[in-house]
Amino acid sequence: MRRPMVAANWKMNGSRKSAIELISKWLPHIGELDTVDLVVCPPAIYLPLVADLVRSTRVGVGAQTTSEFDSGAYTGEISSPMLSDMGVRYVIVGHSERRSLFGETSDQVALKLEAVLRAGLIPILCVGETRAEREHGATWPIIQAQLSAVLRVCGNGFIARAIIAYEPVWAIGTGLTATPEQAQEVHADIRKFLSGFDAMAAQELKILYGGSVKSSNASALFACADIDGGLVGGASLDSVEFLGICKAARNTDRF
Ligand code: PGA
Repeated sequence: MRRPMVAANWKMNGSRKSAIELISKWLPHIGELDTVDLVVCPPAIYLPLVADLVRSTRVGVGAQTTSEFDSGAYTGEISSPMLSDMGVRYVIVGHSERRSLFGETSDQVALKLEAVLRAGLIPILCVGETRAEREHGATWPIIQAQLSAVLRVCGNGFIARAIIAYEPVWAIGTGLTATPEQAQEVHADIRKFLSGFDAMAAQELKILYGGSVKSSNASALFACADIDGGLVGGASLDSVEFLGICKAARNTDRF
């Protein structure tokens, strides 16, 4: 049985003050969400602050990216062992904004994911197609290539140790959400593909949906057989919206 998960991706938003405010608004409600795994991914500079705020709760703290290297002359970078040292448990890797704005290739994403595993952390691997790729019928080949790059570098073992987020690029921050049917189809394809490498791990693997998740569309998405929760950007910056999404994950019949 896969427990639902809702992960907040704050991206490069907020301040020390707003981080404290946001967490203190929804943290008192987590008692009502005991069947949902909760993760918050603040900007790197606020990781220690957020780790302190959620200490001794079951909320996990996640980073939004990491270096593929463990240490060395890489000015400005933060490594996975350092993240672990500061109380971080999850790391988003391969977010489409990292791929498109910062030129991260699928091979580099695979090395980053390997670094996350090496440090004993849990990667949240983002995969997804652009609008043009979908229109050209290339959705699955693109996602398969993104997954295959990771399989080549990390081997089948990653399936049992990772979380996957399917995030269609055209739905991120645009207000356009994949329909539950569109999302479910890709989630099922991902699970089926990875089952070919490790059937048991693929069955247990959490596959989150990301891309304009809101409290109003979360229930329909989370009701789908292979959608195990959400990776939430914009709506995670609003405590009421975020709580609504977490409650949708809790209330879905299939869990
Ligand atoms: P969004 O972002 O919810 O604002 O579309 C999701 C994400 O990029 O993880």
